[in-house]
Amino acid sequence: MRDLLAALTELRERLHEIPQADERRLQDLKTEILGRKAGALTKILAALPGLEPAAKKQVGGAANALKRDFEAAIAARERDLKRAPAAAAAGVDLTMPGRASWTGGLHLVTQVVNEICEIFHELGFTRAVGPHIETERYNFYALNFPKDHPALDAQDSFYLGGDLLLRTHTSPVQIRTLERYPPPVRVVIPGLAYRRDPFDASHSPVFEQIEGLAVDEGISFVDFKATLATFARRFFTADTRVRFRPSFFPFTEPSAEMDVQCQICGGTGCAACKQSGWMEILGSGMVHPAVLENCGVDSERYSGFAWGMGPDRIAMARHRIPDIRLLFDSDVRFLAQFAAGAKGGAR
Ligand code: DAH
Repeated sequence: MRDLLAALTELRERLHEIPQADERRLQDLKTEILGRKAGALTKILAALPGLEPAAKKQVGGAANALKRDFEAAIAARERDLKRAPAAAAAGVDLTMPGRASWTGGLHLVTQVVNEICEIFHELGFTRAVGPHIETERYNFYALNFPKDHPALDAQDSFYLGGDLLLRTHTSPVQIRTLERYPPPVRVVIPGLAYRRDPFDASHSPVFEQIEGLAVDEGISFVDFKATLATFARRFFTADTRVRFRPSFFPFTEPSAEMDVQCQICGGTGCAACKQSGWMEILGSGMVHPAVLENCGVDSERYSGFAWGMGPDRIAMARHRIPDIRLLFDSDVRFLAQFAAGAKGGAR
């Protein structure tokens, strides 16, 4: 009996030695004492019936006291732990304000570019890219620009010395693609383009473009209109109306600009569409035979269509963003509104 009492005293001491919030040790001791088969207290209680009445009372009383102590200690520590798991152990001040942490997200324009490329991917187009620094040949001459075209003027383009310049559009990648891959070719080419434009609400000296090019045998104006109209209905809404207006580009013949029903007023006329009910979204046309020949493609056998569009403007129209500079300012308060899948702000 003395042994039993000594054992109980020792267990009680060990319980009180466990530091606050050391849950692992508390749980270990709990198993050691109260374990259903081999727990020390369980064994002591099992030995009670064999004791003399006086001893039974003494040991039983001590065992019950220990059990109560133990249960109270576990409950108290579990409460502490729930309130401040790591904090209590590390001695952290729980009243300090939290630190902000940010999760990145894709820029609004990147999302629009990806969405547009994805739609063309479903229509059989592969994504391609090209260099931002170009020669005059790729940026202009191979695209059938005449030598005296105003775009070649240093007033309009960023020249880097010699005949190198920052590309003024993504169209030179048409040439690079056709030089490298024989038809059939179907590509979409997203990327930045650069022009000496003012930085104001509707212009930026650097902007995003997506070029498209399809060259194959027997491609007609019908393929061209159907492909772009299908794109517009997938990107905007299934009932979006489109129209093609005659236009001019040196590298296409015939050339056209495509308008979609104004996404803001639905076509009734508003300030954004200057009361016309239409929004211009791209320049396009049938690839000029001279461009095909410049790339070594037989223009008697092959034909194609091409287009260039501005995802900055398309994103602005979709979200009613009034000033293109917002897309370049990197103000997180603005950008976080569009960051799909990301959480802006403190968490
Ligand atoms: N490169 C033209 C621009 O920057 C856009 C363009 C128009 C691209 C017609 C094309 C096209 O491929 O066929 O304004």
